[in-house]
Amino acid sequence: MVDQKATDVHWHYGAVQRSDRERLKGHRGFTIWFTGLSAAGKSTLAVATEKALFERGYHTYILDGDNIRHGLNKNLGFSPEDRNENIRRIGEVAKLFTDCGIINLTAFISPYHKDRNAARDLNRSGDFIEVFVDCPIEICEQRDPNDSYKKARAGIIKEFTGISAPYETPVNPEIHLYTDKMQVNECVQVIINYLVEHNHIS
Ligand code: ADX
Repeated sequence: MVDQKATDVHWHYGAVQRSDRERLKGHRGFTIWFTGLSAAGKSTLAVATEKALFERGYHTYILDGDNIRHGLNKNLGFSPEDRNENIRRIGEVAKLFTDCGIINLTAFISPYHKDRNAARDLNRSGDFIEVFVDCPIEICEQRDPNDSYKKARAGIIKEFTGISAPYETPVNPEIHLYTDKMQVNECVQVIINYLVEHNHIS
């Protein structure tokens, strides 16, 4: 929890509510939170899932760790404190997107239970769907699309998740995907099936 510094601030209520926005769009807003090691497939799955939803007529948006670190979170590194702030901000941004009535998909390593749970706790039950993008680190290291693992092993990149910084495995994710065994389209189908079964989409 971050203490609020500003005290003399007051909430302003709008004339248009989340339910009004959702009615206009014809569907609910919620967060699909992808978590997993670097190169596990979070961004790939977020992109493919967004495409599948968008083609079905849903309003979507992706918040991707690498992209957000070029803008909103460009002042953050990879210490536990900075990762905590990274995920705190994204949890808040995701909540705003949900309030807009948009299906938002986040792709952040988000390695700490505490930070993921804090992001979850900002939401109403059911509005936060945690997707564990599970892949053995050996496979992630083989994929290594940006040579980050190689650089981490060489000590060039410090505090690298899985090598020199922890990844705390999700305990009870809504969806658990094994990207070393499943194709991208299979993973997307599992997510879409979950959304239909839980009445997130029709
Ligand atoms: S998080 O841990 O704070 O959630 P985030 O998802 O935003 O991380 O950023 C991860 C991306 O930053 C990775 O895809 C990787 O390309 C890059 N990166 C650079 N340095 C590190 C590092 N030390 N640990 C993990 N990822 C890193």
